[in-house]
Amino acid sequence: MSHFEQDKHSNLLPSQPSDFSQIVEKGLSRRRFLQASAATSSVAFFAASPIANAMARPPQSQALLGFEAIPISTQDTVIVPKGYQAEPLITWGDAIHPNAAAFSQTNSAVDQENQFGDNNDGMTFLPLSHNRAVLAVNNESTDYETLFEDHGKTLTAEKVRRSQAAVGVSIVELTKGQQGWKTNVDGRLNRRITAYTEMQLTGPAAGDDKLKTNADPTGTKVLGTFNNCANGSTPWGTYLTCEENFNGFFGSQNPIDVPIEDARYGISSGNGGFNWHQFDERFDIEKEPNENHRHGWVVEIDPMNPQSTPKKRTALGRFKHENAALTIDKNGRVVVYLGDDERGEHIYKFVSKSKYNEHKPEKNRDLLDEGTLYVAKFNAQGGELQGKGEWIELTFGKNGLTPQNGFTSQADVLIFTRQAATQVGATTMDRPEWVAINPKSEQVFCTLTNNKYRGVREGQEVNDANPRENNIYGHIIRWQPKNGKHSSDSFTWDIYVLAGNPEQYAENDLRSGSDNINKTNMFNSPDGIGFDNAGRLWIQTDGDYSNTGDFSGMGNNQMLCGDPNSGEIKRFLTGPNGCEITGLTFSPDNRTLFVGIQHPSDGFSMMDGVPRSTVMKITREDGGIIGA
Ligand code: FEO
Ligand code: CA
Ligand code: CA
Ligand code: CA
Repeated sequence: MSHFEQDKHSNLLPSQPSDFSQIVEKGLSRRRFLQASAATSSVAFFAASPIANAMARPPQSQALLGFEAIPISTQDTVIVPKGYQAEPLITWGDAIHPNAAAFSQTNSAVDQENQFGDNNDGMTFLPLSHNRAVLAVNNESTDYETLFEDHGKTLTAEKVRRSQAAVGVSIVELTKGQQGWKTNVDGRLNRRITAYTEMQLTGPAAGDDKLKTNADPTGTKVLGTFNNCANGSTPWGTYLTCEENFNGFFGSQNPIDVPIEDARYGISSGNGGFNWHQFDERFDIEKEPNENHRHGWVVEIDPMNPQSTPKKRTALGRFKHENAALTIDKNGRVVVYLGDDERGEHIYKFVSKSKYNEHKPEKNRDLLDEGTLYVAKFNAQGGELQGKGEWIELTFGKNGLTPQNGFTSQADVLIFTRQAATQVGATTMDRPEWVAINPKSEQVFCTLTNNKYRGVREGQEVNDANPRENNIYGHIIRWQPKNGKHSSDSFTWDIYVLAGNPEQYAENDLRSGSDNINKTNMFNSPDGIGFDNAGRLWIQTDGDYSNTGDFSGMGNNQMLCGDPNSGEIKRFLTGPNGCEITGLTFSPDNRTLFVGIQHPSDGFSMMDGVPRSTVMKITREDGGIIGA
């Protein structure tokens, strides 16, 4: 085991006296406690803790983060450190096929199908050669305010179709020349996947009665994907797009009683937000009560074949998927970590039945169809903000997933994964967003973006892994699988960072954040995360950018870079007004970084009077490695 190690700031790791939980309740921070205890016995505590021992490692000789940190910003532009440059690569409405119409708020659905989609989110750079690549990008959503000239005041069938064409996935070829990576509008792999692209449901739940509709009595053929949040990719060259808040696209013309199992997923009678159901019966839950069960999955796409049918992999469970962090375990099995982004929901792990075959790519094609899904339980250790955890198997017939408790098959467990997780006693988390695996160790990180219900709602009591009530700033938890094996059923965990505001809150208040947060690097609501080849942890925010009150001194949404070993965090990028920063991927040499600017509010990438989501390309003026 490993490179897992102690955060040098030590605020979260050394052992605590057993009454530490009471100290937290009284509002005395770990930091103050540790300062008090350091002089006397922290060495003894440290030595006594098996977790701390496992994490001990000599300090690094050279700083991992070589760039000059930038201050916060409230400017309507993208700012990067000295010696770096940020340029738009592709923007919502840009043509991805020759002869596509130029962007306009009066574009047709067909026009939009030939353009880069709206609200770019998670993305993956897939190299084809040294100067040719494919960029697969999620288009999470669309905003009627900017999509339509009348800002969505009226809706028509054609407008709904355009909205359905604006979401999904965009696949765009890139070529590298003198000016670095550029999009190639003529690329033969360029493709739009929308809410109407034909897909296949695969894996254990495919064909189940609860997946059958009037249009598809087989329960295996689905049209489309939408609310594609974050992503993943596989070593066999496919792209994973993750369906998140699909519920917002369903509604009903008539008020109806929504089945309780669907209500758990946010399905509601009336207007779900996008009003697709008013012009498209597929999205009317009264007329098609099972259509919503066909969304909320991880979809595997072969970006190298524009004719390929995307596959919804039911073995990975149905929930509001954020991303899919995939690795090959030491034993050859594919392990995928998955977060469910909702207050009080859970963190999951899939382990494939068969092993990855490096030499026969065709053998890997359906690895994600068979395996075991688990959900995480983070065990408390008396207020220590660290502890042990276990993965609880979500298999029909085990752990109470039985007919007595409402589960009649593995399909039930997978279609209603949230209910299965509750049944087995999974830990409720503060909105799990992205998961990222450190390539330099077996450490796994997950952003818990925020949770206003923590400590307020039943079942969401404060616990060691989610230690703050009304968690407005969010935190990043991390775990180390037992023996460094991602397929093992237990782990140790601690908290990498508690975001907070040391300007607003005193050091003895957990809202000031952990010790690696200070007045120059503070942020709120960590969301997108990813590692580069050297093991730098890149952190993106989707938070409150009001820059006042609890959030004063934080400015616009931003991207930071963290050293997973020392705990150091530095601000790398600040975004334009109103945007969230989401989506990151590197060229294999780590000399180009692609970053998503989602839903800017003012003048950013303006065309036809419309601010537009954009993928930025970031390089160093000296051509060096990003972040070094
Ligand atoms: Fe689409 Fe949870 O962010
Ligand atoms: Ca997100
Ligand atoms: Ca978010
Ligand atoms: Ca978003």
